[in-house]
Amino acid sequence: MWKCLTAIPIGLSLVDPTFGVAQEAPASQASVPEQIVNAFIAVFGVHPGARATHAKGVLLEGTFTPSASASLLSKATHFQKRKTPVPMTIRFSASTGVPAISDTDPGASPRGMALKFHLPGGSKTDIVANSFNGFPVATAVELRDLFLAIGATKPGDPQPTALDTFLNSHPAAKSFWEASKPAPRSYATLAYFGVNAFKFTNMSGAATVGRYQLQPIASEQFLTKEQLSAMGPDYLTNEIRDRIRRGPIKFKLLLQVAEQGDKIDDPSVAWPDTRKKVELGTITITKAVADSQTAEKKLLFMPGALVPGIEAADPMIAARSAAYIVSLSRRAQTQ
Ligand code: HEM
Repeated sequence: MWKCLTAIPIGLSLVDPTFGVAQEAPASQASVPEQIVNAFIAVFGVHPGARATHAKGVLLEGTFTPSASASLLSKATHFQKRKTPVPMTIRFSASTGVPAISDTDPGASPRGMALKFHLPGGSKTDIVANSFNGFPVATAVELRDLFLAIGATKPGDPQPTALDTFLNSHPAAKSFWEASKPAPRSYATLAYFGVNAFKFTNMSGAATVGRYQLQPIASEQFLTKEQLSAMGPDYLTNEIRDRIRRGPIKFKLLLQVAEQGDKIDDPSVAWPDTRKKVELGTITITKAVADSQTAEKKLLFMPGALVPGIEAADPMIAARSAAYIVSLSRRAQTQ
């Protein structure tokens, strides 16, 4: 991931996350989420109107139908038994802040899946997941430091480079960096992982801590190196648009339930696969959004957009949400 990228330094600009007037500020006065967005842009380059990361994406629409067990875990509206399914917007994406990244580029992994549930009464709640079960670092500060190290490493630097030094002192980041991430046949043939933990509370007040997982009904399918070499730069975007014309695409939404001793506040540690997984419902994707590029500019998927019955259990979720708002305000001002 991000291995292919060269650093492109830019000036720092602090933007008021409430969408006020942009002001210049020294990096030292910027919040950690602002520093992270600045570090992403320094590594990935300036791309007006684009997300600071996961810049290349495709939007689709569908619905969510909760399972009978969902309401036992959470009182959240979309997890209650209902006559009609909940409308959804879904965005699949490639990693990095480079909007033109080729789908065949190893840097495009992990892929993202962002979900927005449009609830009765007009409120919304989101899930933002990716295709790797784990994260390179435990905290937002470490993510900033990782990207500062990537940005500070130039081809031909003497060893150990700034990046070597970071990876050597952060074993989870090293194994994330070195993990093989085969290219998927389709966005519809990947499993996606929420990675951060949330606390779910049901009508009786009973709480469960868990992490979301999305399991493709089409099963996980990957390309061989030979098959990948025959693919074009937008093969995943084109494939999902073709696939949806042939019929619905389905995912099971699962909750991997934490056991005593599982790390709640460290997404770099995946919980054992033997943990209980409760089925929360089925996502049925039914159509592609016609002008995806225009529509996605107005959308913000945010891991901290929650409703009663779901709370953040990992402090990274608040830092993530703050960074997503900084990125939104930057892209709104530059498009
Ligand atoms: C401290 C940790 C993290 C930070 C600071 C961060 C930051 C960001 C930012 C700034 C964006 C662009 C938002 C926008 O402009 O709309 C973004 C998008 C995204 N991030 Fe993160 N992220 C973090 C952790 C994660 C994790 C743990 C995952 C996966 C489990 C993830 C998956 C995604 C995906 C899929 C998108 C694209 C969302 C969309 O389609 O609009 N991120 N992230």
